[in-house]
Amino acid sequence: MAAVTAFVATVLGNYSLLGEGAIGRVNHISFDLSGGNLHYVEGQSIGVIPDGEDAKGKPHKLRLYSIASTRHGDNLEASTVSLCVRQLEYKNEAGEQIYGVCSSFLCDIEPGAQVKLTGPVGKEMLLPPDEDANVIMLATGTGIAPMRAYLRRMFDQGERAKNPEYQFQGKAWLFMGSPTTANLLYEEDLNGYLEQYPENFRYTKAISREQQNPSGGRMYIQDRVTEHADEIFSLIANPKTHVYICGLRGMEPGIDEAMTAAASKCGENWTELRQALKKAERWHVETY
Ligand code: FAD
Ligand code: A2P
Repeated sequence: MAAVTAFVATVLGNYSLLGEGAIGRVNHISFDLSGGNLHYVEGQSIGVIPDGEDAKGKPHKLRLYSIASTRHGDNLEASTVSLCVRQLEYKNEAGEQIYGVCSSFLCDIEPGAQVKLTGPVGKEMLLPPDEDANVIMLATGTGIAPMRAYLRRMFDQGERAKNPEYQFQGKAWLFMGSPTTANLLYEEDLNGYLEQYPENFRYTKAISREQQNPSGGRMYIQDRVTEHADEIFSLIANPKTHVYICGLRGMEPGIDEAMTAAASKCGENWTELRQALKKAERWHVETY
């Protein structure tokens, strides 16, 4: 395989997105892209090649991360990119605590450090150009990264000033799954959009370890989908509605189950409807 060409970016900032008492580590990390030719749009991902070598003494392979900033970057100067990264941690079979290579590299990185980036890549999660599209977003954890970019593009004042051709007027509905309130990401921005655009933005949370679903289990976003199934289905009937799913791969069967039950209530077959939505490029999934 040909070697991947990387751009060496400089870290501008790295801070925790979590509140006190949150589980794990999730950071917002920004890179300076100036001097390069790396341009991206909302919904794309970027590759990161961590420093160091793998167990075989080979350079580490790249890992993909959804871009969390808009094409204008967090400073609106079109010269930065930001990521939202959870440090992978788990116990192996021997009971040892293991931390992920690249996610740890990124969460620990200091401003001024140089990082190899590749890409951007990805067409699955691009936003439609229509200002009056409806955008339903289902995210767990860092799956909020592309949604954060969409919502900034739609509702941030600086962004709107930069995009005269995109003055969002549709409905944006974010379903966010998080283990605790302290783990909710970008809350301040989201609450600001709710205040400024109550007619356009809706935000529904599933806080799994604090809220219960009707069966007494953990509240997941698919339970919220079931709760709001009628509204979701009437929105989906509109050809201008797009659905974006990002985050844990494990949520997909649950979402399908919720949609199947909701579809059968309206006399529809979810498998067929989902295929039709996919074909119309209105059903967008990026899970990992
Ligand atoms: P590694 O050191 O590569 O370890 C991962 C490996 O550990 C796995 O392959 C598996 O073998 C093993 N493993 C993992 N969990 C367990 C477990 N519970 N038990 C046993 N073994 C286990 N991540 C983000 O944080 N933010 C994003 O925005 C983001 N976007 C992504 C977008 C795309 C399109 C894709 C494909 C992935 C995205 N990811 C994102 C995930 C990211 O690419 C990395 O996979 C993640 O950061 C882990 O990489 P790592 O190098 O830290 O872990
Ligand atoms: P939980 O871990 O309580 O079971 P994070 O990435 O910050 O950990 O957030 C992921 C969120 O997605 C958590 O609330 C987690 O719940 C939830 N989650 C875990 N598994 C699933 C699943 N199969 N379907 C939907 N949500 C899930």
